[in-house]
Amino acid sequence: MSIRTLRVQPGGGFERITLETGEPVEPKAGEIVVRIRASSLNYHDYLVVSGAWGPAEPRILLSDGAGEVLAVGSGVDEFKPGDRVVSTFFPTWLDGEPEVEGFTTVPGDGVDGFAREQATLPATAFTHAPQGWSHAEAATLTTAGLTAWRALMADGALKPGETVLVQGSGGVSVFALQFAKLAGATVIATSSSDDKLARLEALGADHLINYHKEPQWGDRVRRLTDGRGVDHVIEVGGPATLEQSMIAARIGGHIAVIGILSGLSAHLPLATALTRQLRLQGLIVGSRRQQKDMIRAIEATGMRPVIDRHFPLTEMVEAFRHEESGRHFGKICLDI
Ligand SMILES: NC(=O)c1ccc[n+]([C@@H]2O[C@H](COP(=O)([O-])OP(=O)(O)OC[C@H]3O[C@@H](n4cnc5c(N)ncnc54)[C@H](OP(=O)(O)O)[C@@H]3O)[C@@H](O)[C@H]2O)c1
Repeated sequence: MSIRTLRVQPGGGFERITLETGEPVEPKAGEIVVRIRASSLNYHDYLVVSGAWGPAEPRILLSDGAGEVLAVGSGVDEFKPGDRVVSTFFPTWLDGEPEVEGFTTVPGDGVDGFAREQATLPATAFTHAPQGWSHAEAATLTTAGLTAWRALMADGALKPGETVLVQGSGGVSVFALQFAKLAGATVIATSSSDDKLARLEALGADHLINYHKEPQWGDRVRRLTDGRGVDHVIEVGGPATLEQSMIAARIGGHIAVIGILSGLSAHLPLATALTRQLRLQGLIVGSRRQQKDMIRAIEATGMRPVIDRHFPLTEMVEAFRHEESGRHFGKICLDI
């Protein structure tokens, strides 16, 4: 049997993706063989594939992968053939404090990812998928789901009754809205589109702001919270949103510095950071332990991810073009 694989050449570029075939690899001790059935797109994958953040060597694309175990190597007792699994963003960060800088160990960037039909990897590069979830649903968790989970539940230690601000209707923000509502928080959601705001409201958002119509939305957030400001901001916009996020946050509030949608460098109003005693916490996704915690919570609550569209693996470029258009709501998935 040969395995179909999508690889991008050094430097990246949509026109520099090649469809290749490879051979199955037998598992060594501690490894498992997974038939990859689905992936999901992230803005980070977009940067790699488009060439904005292209790889240094030929690279199998995509950070997220879900599928079923075909075989296990000696010493593996956590998984057995037939189990449904989902990949981890940091295959070597299992637990505890963050220990990896940047993306050198991340599938689809520093190491090969999941745009392929089969992968043989250490068992610790996967966790069990949530019971009853499709492969595509499970594939939404590796990056977007875990980022939102860690920001709110680990770094933010979110409590019922607190207020969370989420920006836009992309993968991370929709998960953050869902997790915040599960935890009993009030959610203020922003979007560029009134239609998308209506969908965010249907998911439980308590207050809605169109950030195109109301670019100075920080003051509006303060009014919505009786002048107090929000406890947590899921900051995905970057330079275009950071100042408003700092206005929107309460004294001592937590800003999860997650996204770079509008660029890599922002003006940082130090006086606001100091006088409001804000906590700006940069983060990249999370550990395997945090992924297992998230999946346990998902199974306990029955929540499901929001999938915008599915594309076949061979239409990956079209899928990225769809993400680029900004028309999506939630996650875009690839069936493999
Ligand atoms: N640090 C990490 O661990 C981590 C992990 C995952 C993602 N990220 C980053 O987080 C960001 C979002 O990722 P994603 O995968 O969720 O992206 P995505 O699914 O492509 O979401 C993009 C959405 O963000 C909204 N948006 C765009 N510009 C905005 C702005 N100026 N203000 C507010 N919202 C804006 C838009 O929603 P509307 O159409 O509703 O306006 C857009 O559809 C990216 O920069 C990504 O690199 C970081």
